[in-house]
Amino acid sequence: MAAFGTVFTPEMIISRFNNNSWSTPEIVATDSISLHPGAHVLHYSSTCFEGLKAFRHADGGIYTFRMEKNVARLAQSSQLLALPGFDKAMLSKMILDIVSRYAADVPQPPGSMYIRPTHIGTEASIGKAAAPSLESMLYVLLSPVGDYFAGGAKPLRLLLEDNARCAPHMGMVKSGGNYASALQPIMKARASVQADQVLFCPNGDVQETGAANFLLIDGNEIITKALDSSFLHGITRDSILTLARDRGMTVSERELTVDELLERAAKPGTEAALSGTAAVLTPVGTLIHGGKEYQVGSGVAGATTNALRQALNDIQWGKAEDKHGWLTKV
Ligand code: PLP
Ligand code: COI
Repeated sequence: MAAFGTVFTPEMIISRFNNNSWSTPEIVATDSISLHPGAHVLHYSSTCFEGLKAFRHADGGIYTFRMEKNVARLAQSSQLLALPGFDKAMLSKMILDIVSRYAADVPQPPGSMYIRPTHIGTEASIGKAAAPSLESMLYVLLSPVGDYFAGGAKPLRLLLEDNARCAPHMGMVKSGGNYASALQPIMKARASVQADQVLFCPNGDVQETGAANFLLIDGNEIITKALDSSFLHGITRDSILTLARDRGMTVSERELTVDELLERAAKPGTEAALSGTAAVLTPVGTLIHGGKEYQVGSGVAGATTNALRQALNDIQWGKAEDKHGWLTKV
């Protein structure tokens, strides 16, 4: 299978904001857009995006997962980046229209169609360093995908980093700049200790990794940082916490310090995992901090992590009842 996110359908759907209004969404060739080299997004990073998936069920039906949540998060990211506001119903329809057109390309489980709504500031004005783009493009790309982490659910090695991933008031925005600012620490972590990912823990506060949220599972309790502006409010995080509550687990959304994390991780039976649309729920086997390696529990994928991942996949793949109304038929 090709690397995650490198294969695209030949067409996408796009609406443009010009002269204070949105154009009627149209289907165009995926590689057909052109941008002025002075476009706001290329200089001042007025860009945000989303990641959600559509799944193929055994009866051939295609379903998106928690689409309204992703649409709402893109609307919020757009607002925080001062991009033009859009009608959420318009974007939902764009997603359903393009997925429906490429329904035949949605892979069988464990594959899926990864959906990437994107909103960029396109006004050609390099003078607008401290002013918003008054023009934009909103488009939805499709990419058939398999597993994000090559090797499937192999326990990951995380390097704990003392610095923040991005500016503290921007972590909840899914914007390109946040990903760019995390690249140097991630590359260093790969080269120095062969870490798979970096867990950003500014001032000892366990936040998230470069592409997923972090969850600690200690017996019947699941612990993760309470929502604030400093990190991305993952929709998979919310889904896993809901499924954990359904199973009678105690969900603790609160501050988790590096000291508490390392202490708890050392206990046999403790589990840790990363949650995200691409990552699904991927076990963490090793934490690296201050030049030392700490095995999490027994260092292998834990039973609760596996059960929660399975419970999520079963709903997504139509094998379990969709009690929370998370699926939308395309
Ligand atoms: N945090 C970051 C930085 C991410 O890139 C992602 C992936 O989308 C997540 C968390 C998880 O978010 P979600 O579960 O909505 O995909
Ligand atoms: C997602 O999980 O949707 C993300 O945006 C992460 C990305 C690295 C694929």
